[in-house]
Amino acid sequence: MTQPTVTLAGGTNIPMVGLGTWPMDDAEARRVVRQAIEIGYRHVDTAENYANERGVGDGIRDSGLDRSEVWVTTKFNRRWHADPAAGLRGNLERLGLDYVDLALIHWPNPDQDRYVQAWQGLIELREQGLARAIGTSNFKPAHLGRLIAETGVAPEVNQIECHPYLDRAAERAYHAEHGIVTAAWSPLGRNNGLLQEPLIVELAARYGVTPGQVVLAWDVLQGMVTVPKSSNPERLRQNLDVFDIPLTAADVAALTSLESPGLVPADSDVFGH
Ligand code: A2P
Repeated sequence: MTQPTVTLAGGTNIPMVGLGTWPMDDAEARRVVRQAIEIGYRHVDTAENYANERGVGDGIRDSGLDRSEVWVTTKFNRRWHADPAAGLRGNLERLGLDYVDLALIHWPNPDQDRYVQAWQGLIELREQGLARAIGTSNFKPAHLGRLIAETGVAPEVNQIECHPYLDRAAERAYHAEHGIVTAAWSPLGRNNGLLQEPLIVELAARYGVTPGQVVLAWDVLQGMVTVPKSSNPERLRQNLDVFDIPLTAADVAALTSLESPGLVPADSDVFGH
């Protein structure tokens, strides 16, 4: 099954919708990854910190799909910033894979000031073929700017929390300027009322889809990669079926203008694992 993809700066094609796997444990990830692949998913997003990479790898193998047909993204924790090769080796061992499609630095952790070193290591790991593409997660423009200034290489992807309540306009503009693709985590808003917003409910009724599908259409129409988590077969199906929803430019703008007072993204200058 082919799916819409975005071409990253290094030339690889990432499927726009992937399966988010937090907070699944190994057993659940194994079952849901297999099920998602059967439904048609070709992109799975995990992390060392989710503690489910073994389950993700097993689910991929259980599916019987050729390894090359599924895009696997993972991330390593702060303790590996000084030795990213060891970090990625751990990811690969747990996944049972010999390469990943996308390796991300999970958080910048500026308190330890080693994210440039981590990035330099990822550049080498990409050259060695252990990661087909490389990037970051939860990096602010200032962190990205430092990577670019000190290595001359921009991340291919920056994965950040993004949905209509936290539309991250400034960050997305910075990414676009530097050829960085935005990937959205918790794209459905982490159960914070987004899917009950009257505008979203109304657009869902107008287009004959669900509120979740409206939000994911907002992502993909703007060229974002998105990794919604679901463990439910019906919602897994819905979340992959978001490419033909004819939101207008006015709909997209109205969704972007939604706000939830008091909701702020995690501050990656002070938080990160
Ligand atoms: P479930 O796994 O039972 O489907 P996010 O990715 O923003 O963190 O959101 C994940 C949450 O949203 C999970 O609780 C998931 O529950 C739920 N969810 C996933 N897809 C949908 C959907 N299409 N509509 C409503 N809720 C959804």
